[in-house]
Amino acid sequence: MKFFIDTANLDQIREANELGILDGVTTNPSLMAKEGIKGEQAIFQHYKTICELVDGDVSAEVISTDYKGILDEAQKLADIHPNIVVKVPMIKDGVKAIKWLSENGIKTNCTLVFSAGQAILCAKAGATYVSPFIGRIDDSGWDGVQLIEQVKHIYTVQGFETKVLAASIRNPNHIIRCAEAGADVCTCPLDSIMGLLKHPLTDIGLAKFLEDAKKTV
Ligand code: G3P
Repeated sequence: MKFFIDTANLDQIREANELGILDGVTTNPSLMAKEGIKGEQAIFQHYKTICELVDGDVSAEVISTDYKGILDEAQKLADIHPNIVVKVPMIKDGVKAIKWLSENGIKTNCTLVFSAGQAILCAKAGATYVSPFIGRIDDSGWDGVQLIEQVKHIYTVQGFETKVLAASIRNPNHIIRCAEAGADVCTCPLDSIMGLLKHPLTDIGLAKFLEDAKKTV
């Protein structure tokens, strides 16, 4: 399973990258706004900076919702760097745009996916990635990881090539369960990635080893 970081914060991207486990980055308009990035030029420059920091796919989301607008924006985003993956929402014009983009060599990530039916449409359109939002599904009282299992099963039995990218991760347990469910990629906030490091018995055991090591010098 690949690890992407779900942020537009450059310090967090650097920290995850320095850990040596980072395979890519996902962003969205909310994450860009959180970093105070404003205006097309500043946004494009920010994506370029991220692409230069990380050797892997970087998802950049369109804000158009009509077919022509999505395609125009997608082509401008794809021109920023070869690692840009154009994030397109799961709407009718989005599916049409994904079909065109996939046939014309532009990588896509279909976002805001909450059902297996939507995931089938993504794959039929030729999306590179499908992004089920598991945390938001959990927030609404369902089990997001079950959707990852279901989509992965459908893609496997049908031979679809679209990669399952588990998004809207809330905690380390989500990452573990997505790995069990066969997600191809998990895009996570930095604190969920760092949470995987933690176990109290590791801390207790290390303290004891270091204490005992003093007897050996
Ligand atoms: O980037 C898409 C997704 O990961 C958003 O997550 O936490 O806003 O539900 P969240």
